[in-house]
Amino acid sequence: MLTTVIFLIVSFGGLVYSRAASLSISASLKHASKEAYYERNLRTVQAIYNLTVYPNNAPIVAQGGPAVPPGLFNPEAKGRVTPLGNFTTFEESIEYFFALAPIPSATPAKTGIYRADLVSFVTGCPEIAASVVYLRTGTVDPQTAVHTPGPMDTTLKQVAFWRFDSEGAVLRYDAWIPSLRLWTAISSGIDYNNPQVQQGTIVTALCPQIQQRCVGPNQVYASVEDCSRQLLAKPFGDFDEVWADNIVCRIIHLILTGTRPDIHCPHVGPTGGGKCVDNDYSIYYFDDLELLGSDKPFYCAEDDWADYLIKDEA
Ligand SMILES: *[C@@H]1O[C@H](CO)[C@@H](O)[C@H](O)[C@H]1NC(C)=O
Ligand SMILES: *[C@@H]1O[C@H](CO)[C@@H](O)[C@H](O)[C@H]1NC(C)=O
Repeated sequence: MLTTVIFLIVSFGGLVYSRAASLSISASLKHASKEAYYERNLRTVQAIYNLTVYPNNAPIVAQGGPAVPPGLFNPEAKGRVTPLGNFTTFEESIEYFFALAPIPSATPAKTGIYRADLVSFVTGCPEIAASVVYLRTGTVDPQTAVHTPGPMDTTLKQVAFWRFDSEGAVLRYDAWIPSLRLWTAISSGIDYNNPQVQQGTIVTALCPQIQQRCVGPNQVYASVEDCSRQLLAKPFGDFDEVWADNIVCRIIHLILTGTRPDIHCPHVGPTGGGKCVDNDYSIYYFDDLELLGSDKPFYCAEDDWADYLIKDEA
């Protein structure tokens, strides 16, 4: 019997150990199972981003969680999307992945995502993957979903680490949108740096919309005037730091008041409802243990290697 003995040197944060493993013809099993989880994880991540493409996101904007196909997110899904915030439930997670994807009829420039190109993808074990997606955006017909090329065509980039449960659904994620400010400027054609545009946004767009959507038990300001007065006193902020007690945070969270006004109206209100709040950068962008349950949230566990080696030996 032909058996090759190899030594695997695996280093995790300074801890180095070696393990002897016998590798025989059954090495093909390892490749088969690697292919199986690779395909599964790739499919999950691509399916998630496909749901941001208009009109795939529309049912989720309208109905929330029940419209998300099963198997993509674990009910306990939690994660962080920089620079938007932390999300500690399935419902929150899916809202921030899908319900924030633009609906053309709801934006002045008829902006929509028309294609999700997964340009980078690696997965080193069944539980962990990393990806980069280019979400192609531009003017999209609200009825036909056909994209018409134009000057507002651009790309929203997202880099993400993922942890999957044993069924391959997303359990934890840490994602970055590296250039939300530039993307917003180009895709909307709006110069949010201009103080007059900032004032106009609050008084003629944000506050009237908040008053329209947050009504009855969900009302957060007495009137458009009250809203304008309170919000003109807050920093406008910029789209590269949306997780703060500022106006850009409320512009983003306003989108979600259409899905669950009871949950999201407080976020656009005077206090920010725990979401549009100033928080300590040095704490909340790094509280992996509290938020993700581990201070090494996206490592392949040593046990995974053991499992694969055992399968190889079998
Ligand atoms: C994602 O969308 C593309 C384009 O419609 C399609 O070809 C692909 O099969 C989809 N992938 C998944 C996993 O849904
Ligand atoms: C999420 O962030 C908020 C601040 O916006 C903070 O109060 C909360 O503790 C964080 N939750 C977790 C689990 O990290």
